[in-house]
Order: sequence, then structure tokens, then C-alpha cells
Amino acid sequence: LLGAGSRQKNLPPGPRGLPLLGNLLSFRPSHLLSNLAAWRQQYGDVFCVRIANKLVVVLNGHKAIQDALVKQPEVFSDRPPPFRDSDKDQGVAMAQYGEDWKVKRRLGLTALRQFGMGKRSLEGKITEEARSVCDVLVEKNGTATDMSLLLSNGVSNVICAMSFGERFDYNDMEFQRLMRLMSELVSGGGVARFIPLVRKLPSFKKDQESRIRMSQEVIDFIKAKIKEHKETFDPADIRDIIDVYLMETQQQNPDEADRTISEIGMINTVRDLFIAGAETTATTLKWGLLYLARHLEVQRKIQEEIDREFGASPPALSQRGKLPYTEATILEIQRIRPIVPLSVPHTTSTATVLRGFDIPGNTFVIPNLWSAMMDPAVTPDPETFNPGRFLDENGSLVRPEWFIPFSLGRRQCLGEQLAKMELFIFLATLLQHFTFKLPDGAAAPSMKGSLGIVFAPKAYQICAVPRDD
Ligand code: HEM
Repeated sequence: LLGAGSRQKNLPPGPRGLPLLGNLLSFRPSHLLSNLAAWRQQYGDVFCVRIANKLVVVLNGHKAIQDALVKQPEVFSDRPPPFRDSDKDQGVAMAQYGEDWKVKRRLGLTALRQFGMGKRSLEGKITEEARSVCDVLVEKNGTATDMSLLLSNGVSNVICAMSFGERFDYNDMEFQRLMRLMSELVSGGGVARFIPLVRKLPSFKKDQESRIRMSQEVIDFIKAKIKEHKETFDPADIRDIIDVYLMETQQQNPDEADRTISEIGMINTVRDLFIAGAETTATTLKWGLLYLARHLEVQRKIQEEIDREFGASPPALSQRGKLPYTEATILEIQRIRPIVPLSVPHTTSTATVLRGFDIPGNTFVIPNLWSAMMDPAVTPDPETFNPGRFLDENGSLVRPEWFIPFSLGRRQCLGEQLAKMELFIFLATLLQHFTFKLPDGAAAPSMKGSLGIVFAPKAYQICAVPRDD
């Protein structure tokens, strides 16, 4: 281990950067994933770069990610420090690794489970929401549509029901504005903005200011919901996730300073669940429909499975095991376009040794999930959409260990189970009723996407053609 003041002799190899900027210019979102892939080829699975003055270690391939996040969890589970002092009390997703994060994560999981994650009661709500999306599509009658907002509305309503106990009408203007805000929030903001020196650059500063404004609007919305909940709170009737948090704060010492979770911590955690719970799954569905529209033969096979197992009844999660091709397609969508390809940034809590390299404490760490799932060594022809890669010779589903869209280790996605429920029900319900096609004569949509916090497809139009036509 590196002792204080010792020379850093054996850092991982990596490209030389420019004076002051380091490798910052290679971190432009449009080229970042391919630059990282080229560096991996040259320097191996663990390499380091500099963003401005900050050392950044990039972990490539699932084994290196596992060696760090799973085998050394105490070292590799921290997050970069908050941008501003006023942001010290983070929600769960950016909380520093330690007691505070543990409390928030435990509460988050309890709340998600209590309000249905993994349970049948929630399945009904998801199905209802998927049907509402279908109802809107019926009215479109197969005409070209941008489904972005519609999918965000549908998926967000599930987490709204869990968090606030209410769903919103898709025409509700306040809800629509919130959806647009959240989508904008996660479409911008690459990893470089976590580096303090980079945030001082004028273009980043401006971006940061607008992000703070947008984030504040989401927070104001959540604060208003918490206020309403407080007015009607009854400890004998816990209605939703906000009530779970109110219960926790009520049970504790009324003196704010002694609470395990503060008011701000609670607001930020609900915001995290709300944003992570909405935009991630919706974006996966947006990629999914785009790939399916280009692969009608895949849709046909899924529809055969759905028709065989469910007929006209709503697709049920308990029967998922009988639809291996549908399941394989969902895995393939998450593999070919992982919506958080570089995970959420990690930081080392202390100095350590990883695969023989010295890694100093407080080093910025990027788990490159993309590299694990788009690696030609384990997924031949990685840019080819092929659900068959997740099926064995008997047609049974296989889930390889390199399939890690939810990351690994102690920070692994908190909502994985919810996301899986939603992906299956939304996709199966949509394909039960419609075949998705690209508009006749339109230019082929780009499959490249744009990388922000979330990796999303560029806007595209699609026709949902009713199946009974
Ligand atoms: C964290 C992926 C849906 C809540 C993460 C991380 C990834 C991820 C890669 C970072 C893990 C790390 O730091 O190494 C996804 C994908 C989703 C999805 C691919 C959908 C397809 C959801 C949903 C929720 C959720 C539905 C909750 C309602 C969270 C939270 C964290 C997180 C709270 C932070 C965990 C922590 O820092 O301890 N997710 N996620 N996610 N996710 Fe998800």
C-alpha cells in the first residue's frame, strides 16, 4: 500500500495527456466510449488517465470491475465528494460511503420493497400503466409518433404511485414539465463534470448552473409532496415511500441534528429514487423499441411466445420463465445499449493495490460497464442485435457473468428488481397489442445515441401498428 508521502511508483499505465487539461478533450461524450475502448486495447483492463489535474482509473471488462467493486468493497464503494458545501447531505446515489449512505440505502430498499418491488400488488399497477400507454397508442392509429414522453410518463407513474401514492394524467401540464426536466437533467452532464477544476471552465459552469436550476424544480415538486404528506400523516397507515421516510424521521429524536436521516437527506433520497426510477427504465424501453423496429423477426418471435402463453390476458411475471426469447431480448437490449454505460462514478476510500498496480486513496474510478458487455472477446459481433446470444442450444435462457448493466458490488443498482419487472411488463404488453415499425420512407434513425448521465437514443419516430389490423 502507498504510505503517506510515498512516491507513486506503480500506477496503472495510460495515455499521456496535455499540460493542464490532461486527457479531458478525449472525454467529449460523442467519442468517449470508443476512446476508452482504444485505450483498453493499448493499455489493458486497468488503465489510468487524467482529467485536468485528477487521476482517473478506468476498470474494463467484468473481471477487473469485479476485482475492484466486489473483492475490495471497502475501498471501491465511495463516491466523488459533493460539488458544493450546501450539497453535503446527498441522497442515496451520491452519498459518501459510510453510515449515512447505509441508512439511506437500507431505507430506500425497505421502502421500495414495502411498496411492491418484487410483489404482485405492484405488478397490477405496472400492467395498468402499460395499458394506459397502449390506449394512447390506439388513438395514434399507426401514425408516426415520438414515444419518448409517453414512455417516460408511463414508467414515471409507477414510481410516482410508489413514492407519492398517486399517478398523473398524461395530459397534466405540471407532470409533462417534470418529465421534460428530468429527461434533460439526465441527458446532459458527463463524467468530467465531477472533477472540481473542470467545473471552473466557463462552458461547464454554465451547464452546471442550468442543471442546478432544473434539479431545484424537481426538488420543489418533491418538497410540496412531502408537505402534503405531513399534513395527513398517520403512523398507523403508511401509504407510500414518503410515509416510510416520515415514519423514520418521526420515530427518531425530534432534534434534527441527532436523526439518522435529516429532512434534506430524505428529500434528496426521494428525488434519487424518483429520477433513477423514471428515466433509466424509460430510456431502456426507448432503445428497445428502436432495435425491435429494425428487427421485425425478433418482434414476431416475442409475439409468438406472448400469444402462446397469455393469449389476450395480461402478461404475468410469474410466467416469465416460459418466455425465454422475450427475456433474452430484454437482456440483449440492456447489453447493446446499457443506459448507464460508465456506471455512476466511484472513488477509492483509501490507497490500495489492484492487479499489482498502486491506486492512491481518493482516486476517481470509472467502472466501464460498456466494455464488459460490448467486448468482442465474450460477445462476438457486439454491435449486432442478437437475442440468441442469451439462449443455449435448448433455447433456455443463460445469464452470463459479464452481463452487468446494473453494475456490481455494494453500490449495485437499488432498483434492479423494479426495473426488471417494468421492462418485462411494458415490453410484453406493448408487443401483445402492437407491432412497431419505422415510418415508410423515413431515413434510418441513428443508433449512436447521446451520452450524458444516461445514454439515450436520439429522438426518433415510430409507428405502433395495432396487431389486429
Ligand atoms: C445505481 C443501473 C433502474 C435506483 C445504479 C447504477 C447503475 C444503475 C449502473 C450505479 C451502480 C454503481 O455505482 O456502480 C440501472 C439500470 C436501470 C436502473 C440499467 C434500469 C434499466 C433503477 C430504478 C431505481 C434505481 C428503477 C429505483 C427506483 C438506483 C439507485 C442507485 C442506482 C438509488 C444508487 C445506489 C447507491 O449508490 O447505493 N443504477 N438502474 N435504478 N440505481 Fe439504478
